[in-house]
Amino acid sequence: MAADSAAPATRRYLSLPYDELATPDQLRPAERQVWDAARAATAHSYAPYSHFHVGAALLLADGTVFQGTNQENAAYPSGLCAERTALFGLAGSHLGAVPRIVGMAVAGRPAQGEFTAALPCGACRQVMLESEMRQQQPIWLLLPGPAGTVLRFGRLADLLPFHFSPSDLPPRL
Ligand code: THU
Repeated sequence: MAADSAAPATRRYLSLPYDELATPDQLRPAERQVWDAARAATAHSYAPYSHFHVGAALLLADGTVFQGTNQENAAYPSGLCAERTALFGLAGSHLGAVPRIVGMAVAGRPAQGEFTAALPCGACRQVMLESEMRQQQPIWLLLPGPAGTVLRFGRLADLLPFHFSPSDLPPRL
């Protein structure tokens, strides 16, 4: 069929709601606690190759905060990002039921230098999404944006439209 006789495609647009805060001083107290915990966690990053220290912090429903950091390896792909270290660490190590995750924050800085923008990679977004799906409750997220801003998202799913999800897998035999 000739291209000009094809039915026109429907153009659709996504809208992605998030708040941009000029400074972390505008965060609510619980948010600020998680924000600060992500920054503090960067001290425990192991990043001798990239020299980029990333921290992630999870606020749990019982009020505790669980931290993770990027862990690198001389066999480069064996390393893991801070976000997944935190999420897998929590899910894999907790005795009994894993507490619900309420909120999450990420921080990143060079080994010698100021905190900078640090947005989660695609693989981390996929894991963040499924962590949220598993608990069937949204998780808010704070990310350091450009020029010292804070980007606040109401749920992790918003960071990965058109994602692969468990329902895309074939039924189990
Ligand atoms: N990194 C994270 O920890 N989180 C991300 O979302 C992006 C990148 C780490 C991986 C690696 O240790 C370093 O930052 C440089 O890529």
